[in-house]
Amino acid sequence: MPTDSNFDELELLIRAKYALIVVDTVEVERAEQGFALSASRLNLLYFTWSRSHGLRRGVLPSDPVMTGTEEPAKALAAVEAEGVGLFHFRGLDAHFDDPAVVSHVLDVVQQFNARRGALVLTGHNVRLPDALRPHATVIRLSGASFDDYRALLERLIREYSARMPVKVELTHEDRGRLVNNLTGLTLTEAEKIITRLIVEDGALRARDIERVNAAKRQIVEQDGLLEFYPHTEGLDQVAGLGGLKGWLARRRAVVTDPRRAEAFGLGFPKGVLLLGVPGCGKSLCAKSVAHEWGLPLLKLDPSNLYDKYVGESEHNFKRAMQTAERLAPIVLWIDELEKAFASASADADGGVSHRIFGTFLSWLQDRQGDVFVVATSNDVAKLPPEFIRKGRFDEIFFVDLPGDEARAEILRIHLRKRKQDPATLDLTQLVTATRGFSGAEIEESIVSAMYAAFASGTSLDTGALLTEVGATRPLSKTMPERLDAIRRWAAQRTVAAD
Ligand SMILES: Nc1ncnc2c1ncn2[C@@H]1O[C@H](COP(=O)(O)OP(=O)(O)OP(=O)(O)O)[C@@H](O)[C@H]1O
Ligand SMILES: [Mg+2]
Repeated sequence: MPTDSNFDELELLIRAKYALIVVDTVEVERAEQGFALSASRLNLLYFTWSRSHGLRRGVLPSDPVMTGTEEPAKALAAVEAEGVGLFHFRGLDAHFDDPAVVSHVLDVVQQFNARRGALVLTGHNVRLPDALRPHATVIRLSGASFDDYRALLERLIREYSARMPVKVELTHEDRGRLVNNLTGLTLTEAEKIITRLIVEDGALRARDIERVNAAKRQIVEQDGLLEFYPHTEGLDQVAGLGGLKGWLARRRAVVTDPRRAEAFGLGFPKGVLLLGVPGCGKSLCAKSVAHEWGLPLLKLDPSNLYDKYVGESEHNFKRAMQTAERLAPIVLWIDELEKAFASASADADGGVSHRIFGTFLSWLQDRQGDVFVVATSNDVAKLPPEFIRKGRFDEIFFVDLPGDEARAEILRIHLRKRKQDPATLDLTQLVTATRGFSGAEIEESIVSAMYAAFASGTSLDTGALLTEVGATRPLSKTMPERLDAIRRWAAQRTVAAD
């Protein structure tokens, strides 16, 4: 364990008789090792508690456990009886809705006024009850740095070389790239990956560098909530939506050079909510933003949120949000937001969706990392109104049916995408014929006309396209009331994306 200034701060606080210290971290194992070292430097016994193993003296699984201390209240009573020591409780915040636990914590904290020691709580974005807040100090354990990963790599190579023959065929540059690819992982995860690379074939080679990425992807996707989404097209493949594009373009420099932006006084943008008519390019924009900004795109799939593991879903959701923050800077895309949170007000599932919804809203507002959220929705009636309030998103855009110019552009983009030359067609006529069409409906007409032309052995012409367009009943004709309702709703609450 390298010396870590995070723990110097902890020791200072304990010496200064701060009795309740919250350490905000996703790396509890790393924190634990630091606490144990701090305790020995402070000449204090170290105790650790978790709901599953109860209160234990020491860090090792073989260290003695105090029987009957799994219940938080009992464990806190045992702390009172023990008196002096450094007591680490992990995940205690999950029990703060129990007033007995909160009042026990207060008793323990008061007791440290007269005795040496402290109660240390670990967790991620721990929310303290009002009663505890005045007594607590929060330290944020900074994430692993390039040097931490490098030290870890060197240490593992050393350790394994002592036990087995290890061939290291990495240039200095390769090592740098390998270490870079570990960014965003916790040190525990990074250790697992490097170990696997070494042990599998007794060697570390340049081609292992790519395998770090694959392993990282696996870690990100293991919860089944987040998915690395490939993105291949930029905003130049999106027609119209000039207002939205301009807004995004003005933030590009901040995203690509966040440090300089921060020095200038500008923070990383939070995100946008895109609402509107189906098939008009909301999802397309979400994908293009990541490409345009050169950031990885993570997609949150809300349909897995309320899966079979009901009790777990809240936990999984929190973990997914932590993962997103760790991999920052990224674009996080939440498609069809209303599907994830529509049932939030109903208590049909024992309040799980309501709690996840609350967690998500506070995450939107308070999150730390450079995560740009693009959320999309086409069913505004089902969207909980909380999303619309100020502060959750930087801006809410309304994406309407494309106007004449945008439709011409959509025709050109999709014709070119399918190896057709727009100059051979009468675009003016097609623009008129597709009035009221969404981008998706225009695209479908082109594809159908191409199938017809190919089957009859002819080339695509204006007539064939007009036939398909004429045969299409766009949503604006079949459900005009629905579109009107969306528009009326949006007029008061959103900014036009055009
Ligand atoms: N403005 C546009 N420019 C270019 N292509 C578009 C545009 N709008 C829609 N399309 C085409 O239609 C397809 C479907 O659009 P997209 O999935 O982005 O719609 P959406 O607004 O997310 O709809 P929904 O509300 O149904 O999810 C896109 O993949 C793209 O090929
Ligand atoms: Mg969509």
